[in-house]
Amino acid sequence: MMALLEMRHIDKLFFGRYANRDVSLQVQKGEIHALLGENGAGKTTLMNILYGIYRRDGGEIFWRGEAADFLSPKDAIEKNIGMVHQHFMLVPTLTVAENITLGLREKGYPFTDRAALSARVAAISEKYGLLVEPGALISSLSVGERQRVEIIKLLYRGAELLILDEPTAVLTPGETAGFFNVLKRLRADGCSVIIITHRIPEVMEIADRVTVLRDTRCVFSAPIAELDEIKLSEHMIGRELAPPTRGKATAAGGEGLVLAGIGLQENGIQRLRDVTFSARPGEILGIAGVDGNGQKALAETIMGIRRPTAGEISLGGRSLAGLSVAARKALGMAYISDDRHEDGLVLDMDLAENLLLKFNRDKRYASRGLIDQKRVLQKLREAVGEYDIRAPSLRVPIRYLSGGNQQKLILARELSDHPQVIVAFQPTRGLDIGASEFIRQQLLAHREMGARVLLISADLEEIRALSDRIAVIHKGCIMGIRDNSDDLDMTEIGLMMAGNPAGEVRAG
Ligand SMILES: Nc1ncnc2c1ncn2[C@@H]1O[C@H](COP(=O)(O)OP(=O)(O)OP(=O)(O)O)[C@@H](O)[C@H]1O
Ligand SMILES: [Mg+2]
Repeated sequence: MMALLEMRHIDKLFFGRYANRDVSLQVQKGEIHALLGENGAGKTTLMNILYGIYRRDGGEIFWRGEAADFLSPKDAIEKNIGMVHQHFMLVPTLTVAENITLGLREKGYPFTDRAALSARVAAISEKYGLLVEPGALISSLSVGERQRVEIIKLLYRGAELLILDEPTAVLTPGETAGFFNVLKRLRADGCSVIIITHRIPEVMEIADRVTVLRDTRCVFSAPIAELDEIKLSEHMIGRELAPPTRGKATAAGGEGLVLAGIGLQENGIQRLRDVTFSARPGEILGIAGVDGNGQKALAETIMGIRRPTAGEISLGGRSLAGLSVAARKALGMAYISDDRHEDGLVLDMDLAENLLLKFNRDKRYASRGLIDQKRVLQKLREAVGEYDIRAPSLRVPIRYLSGGNQQKLILARELSDHPQVIVAFQPTRGLDIGASEFIRQQLLAHREMGARVLLISADLEEIRALSDRIAVIHKGCIMGIRDNSDDLDMTEIGLMMAGNPAGEVRAG
């Protein structure tokens, strides 16, 4: 059978270094094809070549059996190929419908027939179970909803091959299940999908075939039926993975990070209400909850990015009221943000400059306003080695690093210098399984050294594996806190996540 898409012997170099080397990929009609590989392996690059964003340096592409050369995404879209990027590209100030038709010149342009447009959007969203409100502003939508808009936008343009770059990294487990149902309907309808993900169980669930890239090359391709999770992860990282083990809680002395009655009201919306807990030294306190229930407000209030409207936060008995973000960081508070592009990194600055964001007033690296470049470079080399950050060179803008390697730089920066408090918000999002394992071990090591670690994550398995205690957040309230022992009642945790206060759950 003729493949729908065939990429043969693709080469791509950046700054004289290979990002793809002799990579081949075949996708059949009606197939869900998972593209796997470690951070920086070359997955996004390969897809950007297919989509006409980058020019390949070697190899050939065949689309429906014919040699194809897409010079721009517009070319690719005309041939019915669509891509949703690792970082979304919607216009926040426009509505769903406006985003879907943006740039299209349909019959009657520039006078669009709004009714007809809405009807078509509604038809697509119903057919595939992609629920959205055409009149809603993008800025008011959750990440999951935005993703649905991106997909409808492609289907509206007649896409028959969808390229999805880490679509589930930003979804909650519930949303992922719904999203997979959409993919299954697309497949049943004859659409093909290339999905990039780091989550092996997802691959086993949804993919028909997998291709694995390692260090720029294609190392493996096989139907899913011939594989299991263990084999697959070995192909990915070339070794077996050991899950992190959490030792006994170390009852380090000293006072914790204490939140007492924290409230946050913004524009009339109560984002946090009476949040009270303490993260003790040498403890990982997991904050479980469905995304969008005040986790971001909580993290940012602790870090001083937002000011609470009620209550007090203290560290080691000292109130943090009135302290800026920089002052808090100087006290040893580290922040791993969930949105690396919004507040973790400056994309146009190079690695050293991004590393310096935390140390620009630190006497070791700067004196009298002058940066000690040598010291900084030495620090960067250490970080790059320890965290295995793969970059084309240390002098390129961070924009040129793969998504996972950008995340590793944030982690290296924030976890250096023995932080007293670590607010880790989705710390392993977008990291490959090897890097995730390394980060989890790092968090455990900092716990051992007496740090107070707040692990905020929608990934219950991660919370379960690492936390000493688990607090559940729902609509800005802490529903209950439980010891993470072997006999932890996960049903109760689930009910609390859905909004049932602790205690009532047991009684009912
Ligand atoms: N525009 C660019 N300029 C220079 N180098 C680049 C550019 N884009 C990617 N690279 C380099 O190419 C290599 C592959 O990156 P790519 O983004 O394809 O990785 P990936 O497999 O998608 O990783 P991740 O899982 O972290 O997203 C990396 O070393 C990266 O630094
Ligand atoms: Mg990528």
